[in-house]
Amino acid sequence: MRKKIVAANWKMNLTIEEGKTLVENLLNQLPELNESKQVVIAPSYVHLAQTTQLLDEYEHIHVAAQNVSSEAAGAFTGEVSAAMLRSAGVPYAIIGHSERRQYFNESDSMLAKKIDLALANNLRVIFCCGEPLEVRDAERQNEYVANQIAAALYHLDATQLQQIIVAYEPIWAIGTGRTASSQQAQDMHAHIRHTLAGKYGASVADNMTILYGGSCNDKNAPELFACPDVDGGLIGGASLKAETFLPIIQAMLAK
Ligand code: PGA
Repeated sequence: MRKKIVAANWKMNLTIEEGKTLVENLLNQLPELNESKQVVIAPSYVHLAQTTQLLDEYEHIHVAAQNVSSEAAGAFTGEVSAAMLRSAGVPYAIIGHSERRQYFNESDSMLAKKIDLALANNLRVIFCCGEPLEVRDAERQNEYVANQIAAALYHLDATQLQQIIVAYEPIWAIGTGRTASSQQAQDMHAHIRHTLAGKYGASVADNMTILYGGSCNDKNAPELFACPDVDGGLIGGASLKAETFLPIIQAMLAK
């Protein structure tokens, strides 16, 4: 059985104090999680130490970085390496978010380097992919996403691939309030799984966790997560408040 995960992407939001209050509110009302149903929280770098400490006693809720450097170490001012994250007790990193690709010009080859460094430092990776609106309008989304996956992941072997969680986030749905329909999400998730099966075999692909992201909230999560190939979500805006994030966790648990 593949893992179900709900991951919070706080992006560049919340002060240290606000982050602490949010995590405490979540923990106060956290439903029971288990090995196959987990929660991940990705705050910005300055929150990582505090969040790691707050989550210390909780086995099935983990902290993630939102990014990691494509370089191992050295004169790269402002960067944070995979080895630093691992040494800070961080077990996950988001790589390839569309905002990083778009605003910080992160290329496929740079993402492949980030993934290699993350895996070499025992970080699990939440790898984001997803098409812009013009690609969706031209009905070329399947080819586009398959190309993103091939460029960033196909140099990995099957064992390495098992450290990857894929997050499908159509760019036109991120922060726009426009969600992919559950049929659109299911179709793309099935396509991603089929694509991975073509390269790595059906049993590897069957075990891959594939998350949906893009205006996922407490209202639409139950329907999205009910899709057979949707294994949870990567949540931006709705992860910033316990009252909207907790029902999303419940929707994942109900799956
Ligand atoms: P959103 O962001 O839920 O605010 O649309 C999702 C994401 O970008 O990860």
